[in-house]
Amino acid sequence: MKKQIVLLPGDGIGPEILASSTSVLEAIASKFNHQFIFEHQLIGGSAIDKVNDPLPEQTILAAKRADAILLGAVGGPKWDNNPSHLRPERGLLGIRKALDLYANLRPVKGFKQLLHASPLKEAIINGSDLLIVRELTGGLYFGRPSERQNNGERVVDTLVYSRSEIERIVKKGFESAQLRRKKLTSVDKANVLESSKLWREVVEEQKANYPDVEVDHCLVDAAAMKLITQPNQFDVIVTENMFGDILSDEASVLTGSLGMLPSASLAENGVGLYEPAHGSAPDIAGKGIANPIAMILSSAMMLRYSFGLDKEANTIEAAVESCLDQGLHTADLHVSGGKRVSTKEMTEAIIKNISSINS
Ligand SMILES: NC(=O)c1ccc[n+]([C@@H]2O[C@H](COP(=O)([O-])OP(=O)(O)OC[C@H]3O[C@@H](n4cnc5c(N)ncnc54)[C@H](O)[C@@H]3O)[C@@H](O)[C@H]2O)c1
Repeated sequence: MKKQIVLLPGDGIGPEILASSTSVLEAIASKFNHQFIFEHQLIGGSAIDKVNDPLPEQTILAAKRADAILLGAVGGPKWDNNPSHLRPERGLLGIRKALDLYANLRPVKGFKQLLHASPLKEAIINGSDLLIVRELTGGLYFGRPSERQNNGERVVDTLVYSRSEIERIVKKGFESAQLRRKKLTSVDKANVLESSKLWREVVEEQKANYPDVEVDHCLVDAAAMKLITQPNQFDVIVTENMFGDILSDEASVLTGSLGMLPSASLAENGVGLYEPAHGSAPDIAGKGIANPIAMILSSAMMLRYSFGLDKEANTIEAAVESCLDQGLHTADLHVSGGKRVSTKEMTEAIIKNISSINS
């Protein structure tokens, strides 16, 4: 398989972890006989520094031509006082919009070697492996009007969803469940909100198309509680924009290892942008100690969700797991014993494990 991948290193640790990810992809390409063609483009603060624009037109054009996009991270104190049109995050929001990335997928897995770092008791987090599928382009964050009235004494935000917007994200939820343990939890607030009533109707209609997937409905308040009391009961959660924003951040701290969490944002045509759930970590940039695993696991998601290369994605995930079994850990993972390694050493160990895995 031959694929064109646009690389957006961005700022802070972005370039370091993206370099790790491309080395891992090269190892996968040579093991499975694929060709990945990489093209670097600018985004974020580094793009502001070079061309005075957080999202140059050339980046958008390249991303639109590509089969997939890998993004490091954007932002840092250097640009914090810039005017709003020259802020790094403008680049991120702009590219999501330009590519119409409507589905955000965030897996959260409690790696058994790191469970002690979780804020939850080990017995509760043990075995947790869930995926949140969040609608990204509709709902309360995009509704109009969103304004202050009566001299600022009254405020209005508007929550709008069309049936077609709900259908495409619910479909993505079912399809994601089919790739995993075939259990889908639809999260809404159907006891109060009209938008949630339509959401629930659509889920009920669509479930006939996915007879292999077990579906249940959960109110968002109950889902928030269940995430910390029984996280291992979830497989795939599908939900609207604001509920997904809040629940995915809640879920991301459960494992205690931000540097391990990948994410994907997908367009309807299958193109996706893949990035770690963490930020640009300016406090450790350039020190060679960043954990590259979230970025590497994001590239595994790219193989699975944009290219349909499940075996290759599984190989990366198994290689990462083997490193943890071998006691290797970067400084952010609070592991006692084992061996603390640099970004480069962790990357090399993952590549070595890839070559020794029988697939
Ligand atoms: N998608 C994105 O690009 C994105 C997301 C969140 C924050 N940001 C930006 O990143 C900058 C820093 O934000 P923040 O400090 O709130 O969040 P952050 O995720 O960058 O860092 C939080 C803490 O986690 C550590 N950390 C994060 N990723 C790590 C990794 N891979 N390896 C080791 N340690 C890691 C950092 O050193 C820091 O101590 C800000 O400018 C923010 O706007 C960007």
